[in-house]
Amino acid sequence: MKTTITRRTFVKTISGAILASGLHPLSLLQALAEPKAQVREFRLSASPATVNLGFGPDFAAWTYNGEVPGPEIRVREGEVIRVVLKNYLPEETTIHWHGVPVPYLMDGVPNVTQKAVAPGETFIYEFEAKPAGSFIYHSHVNYQLDQGLYGALIIEPSRQKDSYDREYTLVLEDWVMRDGGGIAATQRRPPMGMMGGMMRGRRGSRIPDDPLLEPVYDGYAVNGRVYPETSPLAVATGDRVKLRILNASSATIYDLSLAGHALTITYADGNPVQPVETDVLRIGMGERYDVQFTANNPGTWLLAAREGGFGEAMLRVPVIYKGVSRNSPVPPVFHQGLRLATYWDLQASYPSQGIGSGPPGRFYPQTLSGGMHSPLWSINNQVYPNVEPLVVREGERVRMAYLNRSMMPHPMHLHGHFFKMVNSLLPKERWISKDTIIVDPMQRVDIEFQADNPGNWFHHCHNLYHMEAGMANVVVYQP
Ligand code: C2O
Ligand code: CU
Repeated sequence: MKTTITRRTFVKTISGAILASGLHPLSLLQALAEPKAQVREFRLSASPATVNLGFGPDFAAWTYNGEVPGPEIRVREGEVIRVVLKNYLPEETTIHWHGVPVPYLMDGVPNVTQKAVAPGETFIYEFEAKPAGSFIYHSHVNYQLDQGLYGALIIEPSRQKDSYDREYTLVLEDWVMRDGGGIAATQRRPPMGMMGGMMRGRRGSRIPDDPLLEPVYDGYAVNGRVYPETSPLAVATGDRVKLRILNASSATIYDLSLAGHALTITYADGNPVQPVETDVLRIGMGERYDVQFTANNPGTWLLAAREGGFGEAMLRVPVIYKGVSRNSPVPPVFHQGLRLATYWDLQASYPSQGIGSGPPGRFYPQTLSGGMHSPLWSINNQVYPNVEPLVVREGERVRMAYLNRSMMPHPMHLHGHFFKMVNSLLPKERWISKDTIIVDPMQRVDIEFQADNPGNWFHHCHNLYHMEAGMANVVVYQP
């Protein structure tokens, strides 16, 4: 390890000084040689529980420690996270640390990085918390993410660089307030953007467990509460407010807007970007944005979202100024001419270290299809687990070219690495680092990552229903 060598050199250099000072050298040297990272232990019990989102019926969901979302895990960069997972579910489970480039044996993908944790068993995850940022932890087995097994993982920077007065974490969730979703979902619809009639015609009937169907959600929650029971965000006039927005939904892309205020994007998938103001924030499944706004417009407002640019706002959180009489909150108006920041408006706020330029060492076109032409969601017409691995070698730069040949957006997610988005039309200096990006229908997007984390890494669409129907493959490091 590089760090060890550095430390040794350091110890050698100063050992002379210690001897000269007359202190007992051995204990000091030992202390210097093994600086103890602080271990932070958390216990997560995956267990069935009855939940209520404040609005709507009680229903059975799957939870961590009986809560939805699971408890927020908050640590400081450089600390060691140890999570003791106990499985009280009737089926296997795992935990994936979405966005954190953990050592691959800790990545929580059944049959790729570990054997799933059987009912009644315990598994201990342990890894260093880095880099700082907003992440999600969630089960990576079956439909468990949709059934409630997720939570926020916040890694605070070891040295605070941003300044704000208040901070809130917002976990966005789509619920079937009956069973969470998943295989047992009693009511399904054809995926958005497809002609249901056409599909029904082709298949003759609506098969309840048709892999192309998605649940009909009836509860959009923030931190486990549905409006009007969502917990309001209290602010004081003049505050700079930071929101960590995490989309833990299984199949919903939101367009979020805060009435009376613009939002300034400061982090994308945990990585700092040069601040960009927007009226609407689009956030796909698995994406995270940190945004800030200045509380300079006293009143009672709604932070609200509608789905992927259409329809009614269904996710709502009141923003309430202290000392202002409580009126019913003013919703945002989604009108033409609102600013919607795109990926290409964002620019990383640090130099592109690690990821070089010039031709990549590997090139993998990834054609995303499903829907009209295929009964299953697929990458390059292959359906997981019957897929060819994406072979890479440590040290290479790897490019993937997504071509979406379907009528639905796909938030593509790569485990274990951040990637940079590449656009030949933009100047080289303009780039951002992410781990999940939405590839819109009929769009091509290229990404590049540095193969610097050996292991086997899942790569898939973060629409859980697409992933389960086969839209996934694995990046494999060649020895
Ligand atoms: Cu958020 Cu493969 O996961
Ligand atoms: Cu998809």
